[in-house]
Amino acid sequence: MRYGESVDAGRATIPAYYRERAWSRLARFYDLLVRLSLLPLGGERKFRERFMSFAGLIEGQRVLDVCCGTGGLTSLLANRAGDDGVLIGVDLSPGMIETARRKTGSPVVGFEIANSESLPFSRNEFDTAFVSLGLHEMPEAARCNTLKEIHRILKAGGNLFVLDYSLPSGAFARLVMRAFVAVFEDEHAYRMLTNGSLATEIQEAGLAIQKQESVHGGMFQMIGARKVAGGTQDG
Ligand SMILES: C[S@@+](CC[C@H](N)C(=O)[O-])C[C@H]1O[C@@H](n2cnc3c(N)ncnc32)[C@H](O)[C@@H]1O
Repeated sequence: MRYGESVDAGRATIPAYYRERAWSRLARFYDLLVRLSLLPLGGERKFRERFMSFAGLIEGQRVLDVCCGTGGLTSLLANRAGDDGVLIGVDLSPGMIETARRKTGSPVVGFEIANSESLPFSRNEFDTAFVSLGLHEMPEAARCNTLKEIHRILKAGGNLFVLDYSLPSGAFARLVMRAFVAVFEDEHAYRMLTNGSLATEIQEAGLAIQKQESVHGGMFQMIGARKVAGGTQDG
């Protein structure tokens, strides 16, 4: 199986909350920023590998990386997908997608510009979906639409793996995390963090939580959820 030449999914609708220009301007510096900000946590590679280990085997699967940004996770996943796998990264920022395409040469990987709230794929098309640091960027309604879309494109028995911010348990660490997100992220991220609503939203989209793990003292969380066959929202 080859993904082949990637094609833009027509004109993706830009939601009102989305700062298209800001993301496209950031695209050039995004990789450096991520690398530097993850240095105190042991580096980007280690951080992403932990998430991939949490997800487990994806060899030979059809995999979607939602809100893929510059493809940092997508290109690492490609090494695990094998020659028979297919990996598609989608993001709403043309700048992010352009950078991702430039740096990823694998024939099993493709990138598309798409709004995660209306993914340009058929139902039951993917074995596995990933969202790394993407869901906090959206207001709650958009996050729930995105999760429902992921449910739709996953096959029955398919898995979603999410990596995002969370609140640590210690009082001081909580304070630091709240301050960090308040300063460096926008109000959607802050609300998601303080509500602790992510796992519930995933379940409300029809996905059954299989496992959850805290990372880096609880500053991040990894959630694995499955589209259960026979569920009420089965696509
Ligand atoms: C913080 S970056 C994460 C990038 C990447 N997943 C990573 O782990 O480095 C968040 C990304 O979400 C994308 N994004 C936000 N809202 C989106 C939406 N509605 N549809 C598609 N992409 C979206 C942004 O364009 C941005 O590239």
